[in-house]
Amino acid sequence: MAQRITLPFGSDFHNHLRQGVMMETVTPLIKAGGIDTTLVMPNLTPPITTGTQAMEYKDQLQRLAPGVEFLMTLYMNPSLTPEEIKRSAELGVVAVKVYPTGVTTNSQWGVLDFKSYYPILAAMQEVDMVLCLHGECPSDPDNNICILNAEEKFLDTLRQIHVDFPRLRIVLEHATTRAAVECVKSLGNNVACTITAHHLYLTIDDWTGQPHHFCKPVAKFPDDRKALREVIREGHPRFFLGSDSAPHLRSAKQGEKPAAGVFTSPILLPLLATLFEQLGILDRLEDFVSNYGRRFYGLPSRAGTKSINLVRDELVVPESYEVLGSFQGSTAAQIVPFMSGKRLPWRLEL
Ligand code: NCD
Ligand code: DOR
Ligand code: ZN
Ligand code: ZN
Repeated sequence: MAQRITLPFGSDFHNHLRQGVMMETVTPLIKAGGIDTTLVMPNLTPPITTGTQAMEYKDQLQRLAPGVEFLMTLYMNPSLTPEEIKRSAELGVVAVKVYPTGVTTNSQWGVLDFKSYYPILAAMQEVDMVLCLHGECPSDPDNNICILNAEEKFLDTLRQIHVDFPRLRIVLEHATTRAAVECVKSLGNNVACTITAHHLYLTIDDWTGQPHHFCKPVAKFPDDRKALREVIREGHPRFFLGSDSAPHLRSAKQGEKPAAGVFTSPILLPLLATLFEQLGILDRLEDFVSNYGRRFYGLPSRAGTKSINLVRDELVVPESYEVLGSFQGSTAAQIVPFMSGKRLPWRLEL
């Protein structure tokens, strides 16, 4: 039985770092999770819609975590122009994130009609910027669309965009269904998928009545979770880590309409190592958390470098993290992480 696993720092290609005191609280915790490169989501209030804003946000994050490389994204919305795409690419923005309107946190400024964004997609293909898709159709009771089939119903849109922009790099974010896995496998080499840690653990039974396990897309059937695990076991190079770590205040999670999001960032590699060991696929960990995603995003490979150690030693996950600032001390101002208060058999030694 392995007692120690040495790995390069991981790369997390989907992370919510927020703004204000929430940002100041969670950003310094990234490295504790074994991550030093992360793609930052733009769904702030107001959203990040220009290259200049993205670079200002990056500076704030960099000051909070100087040892982390932040890869920045824009929020797809009607104010975006092909010129802004080109300017943003020159500034170093790597991706644009699409939120179909109404599907999740701060998606109210998002996309209603994909065709109206075709000039933007053309510009992105031209400058080789990545399109990140929150792949869910908005709920539509008249057409039998709800949170359980919203991802599967979105896949035709993914296929259509891929047909219309065959050279555009596309990431279907946080896949949760067998249908999504099979769809992405069937598409070309420039279409990939991120998978979260929590979707590898959870199914529907785990989030009904448990707001801290509620996220979008929701975790689905046991067979869907099996498909996510299988594609990692197989070592498919277009399926890699995007944690979708999404902190919310306890008060927002435990209120009448729980906010969607699971917070995993500070425990990410111990969490994944625990599951990968249970599944007998620890030898897949480095590819999943580093090599495959870096290759897809065109970042230098770190294959075989040894920067962090996972050691077989108990990690007690904190019950909660205190959000810095004025409301400190109130339990409402805490973030409850995934596996709150539980013990994991792997601890990170940086
Ligand atoms: C809010 C949250 O996370 O509940 N952000 C915050 O408190 N800083 C809103 C949000 O970004 O989802
Ligand atoms: O669960 C989620 N939380 N899914 C998302 O797509 C957004 C995220 C958030 O920002 O809270
Ligand atoms: Zn999303
Ligand atoms: Zn997200």
